Amino acid sequence: MAQIFINGNRSAGTINKNIYGQFAEHLGRCIYGGLANADGSPRADAVAALRELGVPVLRWPGGCFADTYHWKDGIGPKETRKAIVNTNWGGVTETNAFGTHEFLEVCRQIGCDAYISGNVGSGTVQEFSDWVEYCNMPGRSPMADLRRENGRAEPFGVRYWGIGNENWGCGGNMRPEYYADLCRQYATFLRSYAPELQPYKIATGASVADYNWTRTVVEMAWRQIDAISLHHYSMAGPSPCGSATDFSRRELYDVLRSAMRMEELVDNHSRLIKMHGHGKQIGLVVDEWGTWFEVEPGTNPGFLYQQNTMRDALVAALTLNIFNNHCDTVVMANIAQVANVLQAMILTEGDRLLLTPTYHVFRMYKAHQNACQLESYAETRLLEGEAEGLPDLQVSASRQADGRVLVTAAHLDDAASLPVTVRLGGVRPAAVQGLVLAGAPGAHNTFEAPAAVAPRPLNTLPTDDGFTALLPPCSVAAFTLTPA
Ligand code: AHR
Repeated sequence: MAQIFINGNRSAGTINKNIYGQFAEHLGRCIYGGLANADGSPRADAVAALRELGVPVLRWPGGCFADTYHWKDGIGPKETRKAIVNTNWGGVTETNAFGTHEFLEVCRQIGCDAYISGNVGSGTVQEFSDWVEYCNMPGRSPMADLRRENGRAEPFGVRYWGIGNENWGCGGNMRPEYYADLCRQYATFLRSYAPELQPYKIATGASVADYNWTRTVVEMAWRQIDAISLHHYSMAGPSPCGSATDFSRRELYDVLRSAMRMEELVDNHSRLIKMHGHGKQIGLVVDEWGTWFEVEPGTNPGFLYQQNTMRDALVAALTLNIFNNHCDTVVMANIAQVANVLQAMILTEGDRLLLTPTYHVFRMYKAHQNACQLESYAETRLLEGEAEGLPDLQVSASRQADGRVLVTAAHLDDAASLPVTVRLGGVRPAAVQGLVLAGAPGAHNTFEAPAAVAPRPLNTLPTDDGFTALLPPCSVAAFTLTPA
């Protein structure tokens, strides 16, 4: 019998809803056929699914694409928009039918904030500065007038701006010192056009454990930035490998171990930010994370289309638990990517759309958004064999404004069910409702069987100081505790 302890009297702070953010890049079928139709209009079924998910923030247009993107190509009458080559992703034609207005309309329909990554790698300071003016200037100005000409009178009010993307790699192969100087320069010209809307400036951060990058950029650009990013993908090896659906036990646990590394990365990068940030509150934004496998057989290798299984659900669950428990430093995270690319929420095929196991985890965790994190602890057993080093159980908990408590748990053992006792301190629920997502590690939804993996109720039994439940092998559980 495993035990989970919840302490209702201690908290690390509020879980920023933006930890549940998403990422959409002009890559494969993420935009066209995913979020939007070929003409750039929102895809209604995708928008409805993401609205239901409570997506708080959406990052766009990349990714590597961001540092090749010239935003003025994507505004104005669609018939005159310039077609370009998407040099990063398959060399396909990008029609620019989906541009700034279309993206911000999708955000409006989903009900989320926009996070725009600007072009530092191949753009100019003026171009980036103009973009902010175009989106945010309420009065008369060259860019605000241009926006009006394009049919939008009111400013869009975009708060989150990324100063480039992976500038150590696809964004220009820069050294941290060079990027830090550019970051200072670009940030200077990202102006505020209304006192209530200060641009929130996010510097390009490190790949995985490149602590030198984080230290150098924070040390040199701390005055100009509000946050710095971090990218970490969960893989079965040092680079993307293996099938998304057909994998060995070794590959299951290699990926989970890689995902679990997020804890160490968040700890170390956060510590460095504190040490070198001169006392300024600089947030950590994990704006790319998730699984990365070989593409589905027969699909374009440049499109990064992969299926999504219970293994992905476990990665999502344990990573979100890590972020919840580090809510004092992690202010935003954006899983890669929202549709049809890498660890997606939705997959589409023609007119059909399915919800992935990862979507269900985000849905089960939704009430953590803006809730007060509660201290929690799982008395774990370390797994053995291929799973060596991993705990069997991993948790987080939070209390919402209405007093309800959400406890979420990832059970990583694929071999046996796990009876758990949840012991509560400072929490006295009148009722407990359990929900579980479970299946074989490779279980997934297809267009023929779209509900093969879906949450179902999980029985709980009250005890003197909490409740018990039986977690199936390889499962994600969510318990909602309603106060008396
Ligand atoms: O998400 C896919 C790619 O991964 C992004 O474009 C890039 O930033 C990262 O390397």
